[in-house]
Amino acid sequence: MTESLEFRMMRMPLSHGNGKMPALGFGTLIPDPAVTISATRDALAAGFRHFDCAERYRNESEVGEALQAGLAAGGIAREEIFVTSKLWNSNHQPERIEGAFDASLKRLRLNYLDLYLIHTPFAFQPGDEQDPRDQNGNVIYDNGVTLLDTWRAMESLVDRGRCRAIGLSDISLSELLPIYESARIKPAVVEVEAHPYLPETELLQFCKKNGVVFLAFAPLGHGMKPGLLEDPVISAVAARVGKTAAQVLLAWAVQRGTALLTTPKTAARARENFDISPLPEDAFDEISRIQTRQRLNQVVKTGIPGFIAQGN
Ligand SMILES: NC(=O)c1ccc[n+]([C@@H]2O[C@H](COP(=O)([O-])OP(=O)(O)OC[C@H]3O[C@@H](n4cnc5c(N)ncnc54)[C@H](OP(=O)(O)O)[C@@H]3O)[C@@H](O)[C@H]2O)c1
Repeated sequence: MTESLEFRMMRMPLSHGNGKMPALGFGTLIPDPAVTISATRDALAAGFRHFDCAERYRNESEVGEALQAGLAAGGIAREEIFVTSKLWNSNHQPERIEGAFDASLKRLRLNYLDLYLIHTPFAFQPGDEQDPRDQNGNVIYDNGVTLLDTWRAMESLVDRGRCRAIGLSDISLSELLPIYESARIKPAVVEVEAHPYLPETELLQFCKKNGVVFLAFAPLGHGMKPGLLEDPVISAVAARVGKTAAQVLLAWAVQRGTALLTTPKTAARARENFDISPLPEDAFDEISRIQTRQRLNQVVKTGIPGFIAQGN
């Protein structure tokens, strides 16, 4: 295997469940149902074997349809792909968790998940309304359930063989620590926004020290312009190494020891984003020294999903 092939096929061992997560992941946060189907099939055909889904994305049926068709067409076994879904904020009450899990599984047309994440540490009013609001338009939170209550029910899913591994998303290090310390089954994965403008170094160090896989979303800065794809350091490195800015950003993420999620929407971009190679050490260091700091998604602060408006 060439160095580049080994790099893009890298798998990261999980602390429980005997699984390994492919470092290069395809994210399915795509609003349009038809694009969800074509992009998921294109990603599978390009070589992606890790698919990040969520009940909140409201497109698990389309992802399931695309995966079923793509696996059959490519002669790819279910065991060769790694599929994640996430428990939404309105299902944090322990008695709602198995129902939410089963519904995701059914929509995805699968009989197990490789990974199930608590989507955010914020519990919303329990129910089928994903975005419960009061008369003034404020989110209705649920103070009757703690994150540890929810985590205990997630542990029980693993105990009963319903999913192979569990983890958390949109969580800060200070919120993660008490869960990590109290957990019987330690979080295998933490999924957060990370890129050169938001390196989350402290959280990454904690994850590396404790065998937790750090899974970076928005590694291209969500494709925003102006933004990372046009950053002068990234552009200069890209020109020097003969790769695109997107490939440089994805390689940097893998090289610093994180897994990543990217969302190419066309076949050409899926091939581009899968075709990454290790960066020379000086180029890697130059990117790591970028000083710009920007968080693009506020979900970690409120539990309300969404990237900041373009250009802000
Ligand atoms: N846990 C959470 O709360 C959370 C939050 C957000 C995201 N996520 C996950 O992370 C995944 C990835 O997030 P993301 O969408 O921000 O990822 P991203 O890969 O940083 O950004 C995707 C955007 O970049 C553009 N792009 C993709 N490939 C490109 C290329 N080769 N050259 C130029 N532009 C390119 C696309 O633009 P076009 O639209 O023009 O194709 C797309 O809109 C999501 O799908 C989701 O699974 C999780």
